[in-house]
Amino acid sequence: MFGKNKKHTYASGPRELIVEKEPKSPISEQFRTIRTNIMYSSIDREIKTVVFTSASPGAGKSTTAANLAIAYAQSGKRTLLVDADLRRPTTHYTFEVGNQRGLSTVIVNDMPAGDVVKQTDIENLEILTSGPIPPNPSELLSSRKMNLLLRTFAMDYDMVIIDTPPLLAVTDAQVLSKVVDGVVLVTNVEENNKERLHDAKTLLEKADANILGVVMNNKNMGRKKDEYYYYYGTE
Ligand SMILES: Nc1ncnc2c1ncn2[C@@H]1O[C@H](COP(=O)(O)OP(=O)(O)O)[C@@H](O)[C@H]1O
Ligand SMILES: [Mg+2]
Repeated sequence: MFGKNKKHTYASGPRELIVEKEPKSPISEQFRTIRTNIMYSSIDREIKTVVFTSASPGAGKSTTAANLAIAYAQSGKRTLLVDADLRRPTTHYTFEVGNQRGLSTVIVNDMPAGDVVKQTDIENLEILTSGPIPPNPSELLSSRKMNLLLRTFAMDYDMVIIDTPPLLAVTDAQVLSKVVDGVVLVTNVEENNKERLHDAKTLLEKADANILGVVMNNKNMGRKKDEYYYYYGTE
């Protein structure tokens, strides 16, 4: 299934940063379109903190979040990518950085995020990796400290992109969705998962989340296709 990165296991394989490597490709253009759509998806409310989630695992959340973060950074926006998937974090693999300290450390030790946030080689892009996997991710993510952190980030950055676990597995993404400006659902169109997508949407609605749209990710279409990513608004 994940044959492209044979030397890596599922969790440790880097997610491809095509927007960085091939900024002129149609796929990168798709990411820029998603960026634009997010910008225009909410007229009355400035969108600064966005949760990326999915119904089930493997949909492409982390890949989408990382590439979109690059697309934002490339447009000159000071961007922070936060790995709030404290169960299966991948951002540190993708950007090939250490993960001894990260979001979990900042929350648990009540330390300034600035000490832990990392610069990347990409101008305007900083990342906050997950940090060590804690035993109680939902508790950390629903903490007052996390809430405060997000507010601080919203002041310090133009755009904050938050990678999370799948909605139907654990409450983490739902909890975060309550306190951010918007939520983007990523779905792998290969799977016939209409029902699960519907269930995910119901959970988000229960959380009073501002659903910005759905990214249709087709993992198996091949990189040369223009239709790699679609973005649909919800309204
Ligand atoms: N559009 C795509 N084309 C090819 N491979 C993809 C695509 N989207 C995701 N993948 C691969 O699928 C796997 C799961 O993607 P990932 O972004 O980690 O999903 P999630 O974070 O939702 O679990 C990774 O190995 C990733 O490299
Ligand atoms: Mg992921």
